Amino acid sequence: MEDIDSFLFKFKGYYFLRPGLDIGFLETLNDFEIREDDVFIVTYPKSGTIWFQQILNLIYFDEHRKSTGNLETVFRVPYFEYPDQNGFYFLSLQIIYVYRNPKDVMCSYFHFSKKMPLPTTSTIEEFMQLFLEGKVLGSLWFDHIKGWHEHKSLFNIEFMMYEEFKKDLRGSMLKVCKFLGKELSDEDMDTVVSQAMFENMKLDPRANYDNILKDQFGIQEKGHFLRKGTIGDWKNYMTVEQNERFDKIFQKNMKDFPLKFIWDMN
Ligand code: A3P
Repeated sequence: MEDIDSFLFKFKGYYFLRPGLDIGFLETLNDFEIREDDVFIVTYPKSGTIWFQQILNLIYFDEHRKSTGNLETVFRVPYFEYPDQNGFYFLSLQIIYVYRNPKDVMCSYFHFSKKMPLPTTSTIEEFMQLFLEGKVLGSLWFDHIKGWHEHKSLFNIEFMMYEEFKKDLRGSMLKVCKFLGKELSDEDMDTVVSQAMFENMKLDPRANYDNILKDQFGIQEKGHFLRKGTIGDWKNYMTVEQNERFDKIFQKNMKDFPLKFIWDMN
């Protein structure tokens, strides 16, 4: 395992990615002015951030839907905490919190951390330790989801589940539109659903981050963000014993937590 401090920086108890971080900017955030029609996507890493960037782009921007514009999704739905990457802001007082079952998050993260300037490990066992101790970008998964959920009455916040989008993309997309007060024609909705599908996003250079990974991290291989996009991939990596240990910790931490989780496709 490599030294966590060379990759991550702890600010107000939360681990940020060190490269590209502007502490001065983070310190100004308390005074950041938010507009009524701003929209935020909130995610723990590897829970579908890139997917929802594409979904919101498709819903809001005609030229993205029609493929007449060539702007990458990340410039229209930028990362709030890394202003250098941001073309312009498109944020809001409506918050969509996307969550995914944490075993798949962990396995996706394990693969992702091998390619990126992040704390990484050679085995899933070691990565599980980092993940369950919160020594990863994004800190502890349990704190993240519980913290946002505990404060949900303070915001206009909708919790949306990755797995539901996977199982019923169109139905889920209608819920997003309803939440955002957006009405799309049937034809536009067909396009949105099609372009938000894993297979199509994987091929879309505006939506798959391949250019960003190449330009900012020098990664030439394609397909790091859009790896498998499935439910239950954890079964291919975790042993029975690891799974049982994970379940115990999950149950201890998530006792009485009201949202449900989907752990496999069936
Ligand atoms: P996997 O590594 O399991 O494939 P984030 O953007 O928060 O880092 O999340 C990345 C994860 O979301 C990856 O998971 C990626 O494949 C998955 N993902 C991205 N777009 C998707 C889509 N259209 N459908 C399903 N999964 C998607």
